[in-house]
Amino acid sequence: MGKFACVIHPLSPKKDVGRKYPLLAKVLPTPFIHFFSRFWPPLKLSQITGVRSESTGEEVEGWLLACPFTADQMLRLPSQTAYKKIVQTGRLAERLGAHILGLLAFTSVIGDGGVTVSQNLDIPITTGRSLTIAAAIEGLEEAARCHAIRPAAATAAVVGATGSIGSACAILLAPMVAELVLVGRLESHLAQVEAQVREAGARQVRTSTRIEAIGEADMVLSTTNTTRPVIYPQHLKQGAVICDVALPPDVSPRVAQERDDVLVIEGGVMDVPGPVDFHFDFGLPPRQAYACMAETMVLTLEERYETYSLGRQIQIERVREIAQLARKHGFRVTGSQSWKS
Ligand SMILES: NC(=O)c1ccc[n+]([C@@H]2O[C@H](COP(=O)([O-])OP(=O)(O)OC[C@H]3O[C@@H](n4cnc5c(N)ncnc54)[C@H](OP(=O)(O)O)[C@@H]3O)[C@@H](O)[C@H]2O)c1
Repeated sequence: MGKFACVIHPLSPKKDVGRKYPLLAKVLPTPFIHFFSRFWPPLKLSQITGVRSESTGEEVEGWLLACPFTADQMLRLPSQTAYKKIVQTGRLAERLGAHILGLLAFTSVIGDGGVTVSQNLDIPITTGRSLTIAAAIEGLEEAARCHAIRPAAATAAVVGATGSIGSACAILLAPMVAELVLVGRLESHLAQVEAQVREAGARQVRTSTRIEAIGEADMVLSTTNTTRPVIYPQHLKQGAVICDVALPPDVSPRVAQERDDVLVIEGGVMDVPGPVDFHFDFGLPPRQAYACMAETMVLTLEERYETYSLGRQIQIERVREIAQLARKHGFRVTGSQSWKS
């Protein structure tokens, strides 16, 4: 049987540490959690059973592993310190017998996007970004349909457009929409992505370093690497749809509370085929996984034990291939009802 492992880490210190150690999370103030997590060893959180392909009937299983660093620490600590802890977690996956390792959230965002970690491990790793991108675009299209927005006549904004996932999403959206707004932090980086989306067939493109630029967008895809929300109720156009791919979320919980007219969906979430049980609550409803986990499962079902999505540069061909393989095995992008909170 094919075996995989997925590395997760606490995004919200109190909430996520509380999933494993409720008492500890209750009594320890957040700064203490940040501090102690530096010395905590990697953990096996649970076994994942029942991932079964709809097309072949084959079943695979895996493990959820925790790299103890919080998102804030991943960003703050030197990359080498974070790499060391992620490699230790990868070693645990190797000892358990996993054939492939998926890196979730900031374990793939920091530094060189998994390259150094991969060089220090014997099993192949994937960041899951390719399927995350495919799922995000499909989710945004589905949300637009729900709000009767016709992409060909719409303005779409990508927040975090200079990033790995953001730039690939912008390239894929380019030929689909009337106008594209690229939001990032650095004009020079935005100019590079602007050139790429023009080449990909964008009709009209604007770039901005200000979040207010999304105010005219009917569709927003957000994928920054910040640990705090960047999109608030006042930024959004009446009736807009937002696909929030970021972990932790880019969209403030206030949007759900104050803006009935907009639809926010959690991007990059998929329904997993088969009687899957994660035996651990990592924050999604039962039988749902983040697309980066799903990519690891799909590669295991395919027995493609290779470093698939690695580094910052995304190969659009791989996005298309993994989306097609995911469909074949019965992975579906989760419907548009879920609100981030
Ligand atoms: N749902 C899933 O399955 C899944 C899978 C993988 C990743 N993710 C999440 O997706 C997000 C992006 O991942 P990635 O690999 O693409 O990261 P990345 O390559 O580091 O890209 C993030 C980009 O966001 C930009 N940014 C940061 N703050 C910003 C702000 N306030 N306004 C506009 N842009 C801003 C950064 O700009 P600079 O270049 O200036 O830093 C960077 O270009 C992360 O939150 C990650 O956890 C989700």
